[in-house]
Amino acid sequence: MAPLLLLLLLAASVVTADEDAFIGVNIGTALSDMPNPTQVVALLKAQQIRHVRLYDADRAMLLALANTGIQVTVSVPNEELLGVGQSNATAANWVARNVVAHVPATNITAIAVGSEVLTTLPNAAPVLVSAMKFIHSALVASNLDDQIKVSTPHSSSFILDSFPPSQAFFNRSWDNVMVPMLKFLQSSGSYFMLNSYPYYDYMQSNGVIPLDYALFRPLPPNKEAVDANTLLHYTNVFDAVVDAAYFAMAYLNFTNVPIVVTESGWPSKGDKNEPDATLDNANTYNSNLIRHVLNNTGTPKHPGIAVSTYIYELYNEDMRPGSLSEKNWGLFDANGVPIYILHLTDSGMVLANDTTNQTYCVARDGADEKMLQAALDWACGPGKVDCSPLLQGQPCYEPDTVNAHATYAFNTYYHQMGMASGTCYFNGVASVTTSDPSHGSCKFHGSGGNGTFINGTSLAPSSNSTASGCSSNFHVGSAAITLIIGVLLWSAAFL
Ligand SMILES: *[C@@H]1O[C@H](CO)[C@@H](O)[C@H](O)[C@H]1NC(C)=O
Ligand SMILES: *[C@@H]1O[C@H](CO)[C@@H](O)[C@H](O)[C@H]1NC(C)=O
Ligand SMILES: *[C@@H]1O[C@H](CO)[C@@H](O)[C@H](O)[C@H]1NC(C)=O
Ligand SMILES: *[C@@H]1O[C@H](CO)[C@@H](O)[C@H](O)[C@H]1NC(C)=O
Ligand SMILES: *[C@@H]1O[C@H](CO)[C@@H](O)[C@H](O)[C@H]1NC(C)=O
Ligand SMILES: *[C@@H]1O[C@H](CO)[C@@H](O)[C@H](O)[C@H]1NC(C)=O
Ligand SMILES: *[C@@H]1O[C@H](CO)[C@@H](O)[C@H](O)[C@H]1NC(C)=O
Ligand SMILES: *[C@@H]1O[C@H](CO)[C@@H](O)[C@H](O)[C@H]1NC(C)=O
Ligand SMILES: *[C@@H]1O[C@H](CO)[C@@H](O)[C@H](O)[C@H]1NC(C)=O
Ligand SMILES: *[C@@H]1O[C@H](CO)[C@@H](O)[C@H](O)[C@H]1NC(C)=O
Repeated sequence: MAPLLLLLLLAASVVTADEDAFIGVNIGTALSDMPNPTQVVALLKAQQIRHVRLYDADRAMLLALANTGIQVTVSVPNEELLGVGQSNATAANWVARNVVAHVPATNITAIAVGSEVLTTLPNAAPVLVSAMKFIHSALVASNLDDQIKVSTPHSSSFILDSFPPSQAFFNRSWDNVMVPMLKFLQSSGSYFMLNSYPYYDYMQSNGVIPLDYALFRPLPPNKEAVDANTLLHYTNVFDAVVDAAYFAMAYLNFTNVPIVVTESGWPSKGDKNEPDATLDNANTYNSNLIRHVLNNTGTPKHPGIAVSTYIYELYNEDMRPGSLSEKNWGLFDANGVPIYILHLTDSGMVLANDTTNQTYCVARDGADEKMLQAALDWACGPGKVDCSPLLQGQPCYEPDTVNAHATYAFNTYYHQMGMASGTCYFNGVASVTTSDPSHGSCKFHGSGGNGTFINGTSLAPSSNSTASGCSSNFHVGSAAITLIIGVLLWSAAFL
């Protein structure tokens, strides 16, 4: 009887999902050549990033984000926390200046009050919950409390004994803060903000945590972590930490506060003693994380429950103090050039993996003209390329050479196929280049006009297209080319 009762109680009170998970990005600003707000917003738009978190409430940044539809989490910096937490009037003033002045043009959807306060600024802990409540009352007074949620990001190091997740609890020294805080989050319909860095968990585990487990790579079944109390299987550190946070809340009897991960990521470069801060690992972690989140996979404890996540972070911050890895968490450099190209085929629209270093497919110099012609005919026929710009009087007619026309057709095909590997081959007469072959009014696919930003949408592989779809299409293509060339050679022999 007891287990059934427990099940019923759980069923009645667990976290419920009514929304799809999203991926957002944190915007740190410790760059020696910080792009201006207009440039930042241009990058966000080009990359289809719809959710951002700021570490403050910078006026110029909030103005630039106006009327973009981008949803913004603003922050009360730790330096302002004591003031806001000690005075209702200061809090109301903060909200008036940094929030009310910007909505609804700027879509502010959350306020992060302080950052990792209980682990980094314990002397402000006594005012943390009042700061959150004061901010919330000011939102209520402006009738904004429905659309703007108030919370505070916690470091995952605040969760003790986090494996197995079912035994996790928050550092008990802070129960007197956590209980009223969770009550507040629950009653105001807000969520628990968690910063989770499997990179550090892995680094600090001295080999106990396998790298693959931190990077969401498949593990052999005998290496999967199993929580002996719940028998839940964990295939990655990220899920285990999120579940540890759910269990730590449940330990304090809060079972219906959802979690948003406000920071997670992996550094792409590090000092000698940080050998796993590499481009490959950063790419693997963030690509897998994004796929995992957008799939609404949830966690073993709450399958299918959205765990929206903000990647740490948009830019590499060269001015951050500390180890080399500290400066290398970004997805982009200050010029908006990606540090690495995320592998995101099939995961939807955010952060298209093909960003800058735009590539084009061109006819090889010195390629056999008959083979080029055959490939051109194939591209404009079975390859479904719209070759009308190559007709006389159209923008890409001149120069009227097989090489120039084939280049246009190859490049269009290559971009139609999402620049998938193998789609710029054409029996060896095509090759990939980074220089834009556009000339005059003949604009090539993929040409952004600027070279820095490109249209994320057109290049994001649609969620329906699969890699196998692309390559089987191509195989048909190369067979057809072989056939055409065979026919050409055969007719040539009889001339
Ligand atoms: C702001 O974001 C919320 C949440 O998605 C959405 O419901 C609302 O329509 C947005 N408001 C504006 C003004 O874009
Ligand atoms: C704080 O100020 C708001 C108005 O901004 C008011 O509604 C609320 O009652 C005040 N709360 C406290 C605890 O003084
Ligand atoms: C728990 O928090 C207290 C107070 O900040 C701190 O002194 C202690 O080291 C923490 N315990 C652990 C295991 O982190
Ligand atoms: C949680 O609820 C149980 C059962 O009602 C109770 O025994 C326990 O003291 C509660 N724990 C906290 C931290 O309130
Ligand atoms: C996506 O979610 C489904 C269940 O909803 C799961 O079976 C699948 O493994 C998930 N894929 C990824 C890449 O997480
Ligand atoms: C872009 O191209 C430059 C120069 O060819 C190269 O150094 C850089 O690594 C490339 N970046 C990416 C993200 O591929
Ligand atoms: C984009 O991602 C797909 C799938 O991982 C990969 O095959 C392709 O090469 C990537 N594109 C670039 C330009 O890196
Ligand atoms: C190219 O980028 C620069 C800086 O990012 C911007 O000022 C300029 O307007 C852009 N030009 C075009 C044609 O988009
Ligand atoms: C660029 O993206 C927009 C949507 O953001 C889309 O409507 C437009 O067609 C795209 N342009 C190209 C050249 O693909
Ligand atoms: C993807 O497939 C679904 C269902 O088959 C369809 O409704 C949708 O239009 C497709 N989207 C694209 C971009 O092809």
